[in-house]
Amino acid sequence: MKHFLNTQDWSRPEIDAVLREAAAFKRDRLGDQLKGKTIALVFFNPSLRTRSSFEIGAFQLGGHAVVLAPGKDAWPIEFDLGTVMDGDTEEHIAEVARVLSRYVDLIGVRAFPKFQNWSVDREDHVLRGFARYATVPVINMETITHPCQELAHALALQEHFGSEDLRGRKYVLTWTYHPRPLNTAVANSALTIATRLGMDVTLLCPTPEYVLDARYMDWARANVAESGGSLAVSHDPLAAYAGADVIYAKSWGAIPYFGRWEQEKPIRDAHQHFMVDSDKMALTNNAVFSHCLPLRRNVKASDAVMDSPACIAIEEAENRLHVQKAVMARLVGLG
Ligand code: CP
Repeated sequence: MKHFLNTQDWSRPEIDAVLREAAAFKRDRLGDQLKGKTIALVFFNPSLRTRSSFEIGAFQLGGHAVVLAPGKDAWPIEFDLGTVMDGDTEEHIAEVARVLSRYVDLIGVRAFPKFQNWSVDREDHVLRGFARYATVPVINMETITHPCQELAHALALQEHFGSEDLRGRKYVLTWTYHPRPLNTAVANSALTIATRLGMDVTLLCPTPEYVLDARYMDWARANVAESGGSLAVSHDPLAAYAGADVIYAKSWGAIPYFGRWEQEKPIRDAHQHFMVDSDKMALTNNAVFSHCLPLRRNVKASDAVMDSPACIAIEEAENRLHVQKAVMARLVGLG
């Protein structure tokens, strides 16, 4: 069964084709690729962009989306195998995924980490549970990676620089402050797609503890070996911003501190100056700035940056609609 769990599972020609198909959907929004088809969108966490763009995208291609929030408007789901279900969960993923597969043609899943134990969270067991038991394609709507965001970001960069022109661009993925420790998913994904596209990537973060999980650093190194480009880690904002073509911002929690966030807080609080502002952007090579959104203004990026012509975050957000239509159409077409 072909799923869309990570871009890294799809070949470079497949990724390139999806981006071309997404660009076509952006020019001509309506189609019948999902006529008579349905998608279940299973949300364990809130969303504005993902929910609306998947629902609208399915509609624009003639399909229909059903949104479910387990534990709220649907039964709480058990994912552990062999467990005695005498707690809060009412049904097992083995039944949930197989029943939904009898109703729908695609299943999207959003399930953020629990933030208590990274060795557990990194197994992505909610998404993997759906993929294991579903008999229809499963789409990752953000778990510990965010591949739909990756594609939307890649399309926005191609639109700005031209699809053949991304190799050799200096790409800075910068950690930014947020009052709470956030998911590493978008950072993992940005690192993955930027290296896949052959850019010279700098991961800018406060200390070595904020370097991303070894799985994604390994993917990035493998991508560099295959696509060209380079990968560097920096803790120096001024050096990292110098000459950059792309600044992509995200806040995330340091993996060694999962489950003991009170010890991470002083480090986080000491790096509020990582906010993207006009002074830092002035060091770049007239870089574009983006962020997956939602974004806290004047915490992660200043008003001036968000409102500047350099900011392509709205374009990237729009692209969610188009890339997801391309992914859904492709997966249904393969069915
Ligand atoms: N970027 C993104 O996934 O936005 P939502 O959390 O609003 O879906």
